[in-house]
Amino acid sequence: MSAIYGKVKSRVLVTAGPTREKIDPVRFISNYSTGIFGYAIAEEAKNRGHAVTLVSGPTALRKPAGIRFIPVESALDMRRAVLKEFSRSRLVIMAAAVSDWRAKISGESKLKKSRGKKALELVENPDILKELGKRKNGRVLVGFALETENLRKNAIKKLKEKNLDIIIANQLSGKGRAFGNKPVTIIMIDRHGNEETFRRDSKREMAKIILDKALQFKL
Ligand code: CTP
Repeated sequence: MSAIYGKVKSRVLVTAGPTREKIDPVRFISNYSTGIFGYAIAEEAKNRGHAVTLVSGPTALRKPAGIRFIPVESALDMRRAVLKEFSRSRLVIMAAAVSDWRAKISGESKLKKSRGKKALELVENPDILKELGKRKNGRVLVGFALETENLRKNAIKKLKEKNLDIIIANQLSGKGRAFGNKPVTIIMIDRHGNEETFRRDSKREMAKIILDKALQFKL
């Protein structure tokens, strides 16, 4: 790593994948995120000479070479790792599908079928990106908005509420489209109100578009 340090540009922090919220030793709450988008963004940033940290929820993907890799499980784990890395990062791209809820109580013994309906109470997880937006201090923040309805409107709302520089609005339609490595269409909206729609054959290609835009913001 030290050999290339002379060439290293800004430090980039990327999150990827789902989070997993434990219910008991055999069950969890999660989502369909594969992590492909976040990993592609992290790889692309590395290829452009940036020092990259990837905080990843559980995925089936191979750990990328040449990237500082921090595996996490739950939203609370991800929050802890991200807050630790945040201060030294200039650009943060939150591609992770963070679970909005976790089980209020997660025990070490298996929840019996007869008790599950009553015992399973959910509490809200912290919004990591919103917290970062409050302590931005010159950093560039990029978020994702995965929506089934009102894509543009909801994305703009998230851009403002989370104090982001860019939001990538990604429509979930059909049978889980938007998950996995498929052609992808996004609307990219920035804090100045600029907006553009892009379609690419892969998330790897789209990662280039996202980094081109993010790196236009002064790092
Ligand atoms: N995010 C986060 N922490 C959470 C939830 C989301 O940091 N607890 C981030 C995601 O990584 C993403 C952005 O916020 O970059 C938007 O996530 P999304 O799930 O689309 O929206 P939510 O804010 O969770 O709102 P809702 O689920 O109501 O659409």
